[in-house]
Amino acid sequence: MKPRSSSPIGVFDSGLGGLSVLQHIRQQLPHENLVYVADSQFAPYGEKGEAFVIERALFISRFLAELPVKALVVACNTATAAAVAELRKTFSMPIVGIEPGVKPAMSTTKTGVVGVLATSETVRSDKYARLVSPYGGQKVITQPCPGLVDEIEAMNLDGQKLRSLLTRYLAPMLDAQADTIVLGCTHYSFIAPLIQEIAGENVRLIDTGAPVAVELFRRLNKQNLLHLEKVQTPPQFYTSAVPARMEEIFAQFWGEKATIQPLPSQCPE
Ligand code: DGL
Repeated sequence: MKPRSSSPIGVFDSGLGGLSVLQHIRQQLPHENLVYVADSQFAPYGEKGEAFVIERALFISRFLAELPVKALVVACNTATAAAVAELRKTFSMPIVGIEPGVKPAMSTTKTGVVGVLATSETVRSDKYARLVSPYGGQKVITQPCPGLVDEIEAMNLDGQKLRSLLTRYLAPMLDAQADTIVLGCTHYSFIAPLIQEIAGENVRLIDTGAPVAVELFRRLNKQNLLHLEKVQTPPQFYTSAVPARMEEIFAQFWGEKATIQPLPSQCPE
């Protein structure tokens, strides 16, 4: 079936992090139908290796393409770094990815030092190397952050373990006088208040959820795919974990009651 303007936009992440991007999409494109897939059974992606992330991204995108969705948002920096090129080769629909906001951070820093918090897989990727290379190693302090996503997925948004991990990860960039910190993983938006508390109020945090929604609007508009009917339906949510166990967590992160369906385990051909 060919997607139409009333077809939904597919959004996915390894888990709950992409809901922070979905919130921006909802705000900026309030009348679009949305489908969100949380690959919670396989989160976190950040320590699993590139081949695994590509395989999961292709699987989820095939499921979404079958619905069909009219556009795809990879609401995950790790999956974008590993798989967006492969997705663009495989699917013809508009695909919007997300990357750490190094460019806006570098253009606004006053000390000339920027810190980036991201997953190990994002930091290891060629895409990330290309993103930071114009600025030279001394100005961008990159910190891989294993463990953060596990705490966020478990809803420990202010626990002792999270605090001590963050204190350790932020220390090198704060010692180097970073005045701007890039949230290079969509999960980290949910712990922005804690990051701000530890980093101090003079440090600016950069989140790239809003620019993704702007880019999505631009792409849909260009292809005459915006949904112009002024109605709003709740997003459809899918998870690869057990849906009943995820409902409370989703409601907390999304801000309203969410009905969640199981992501089929067989890939559509
Ligand atoms: N939310 C993700 C990102 O933006 C994925 C984190 C993970 O699963 O490790 O990178």
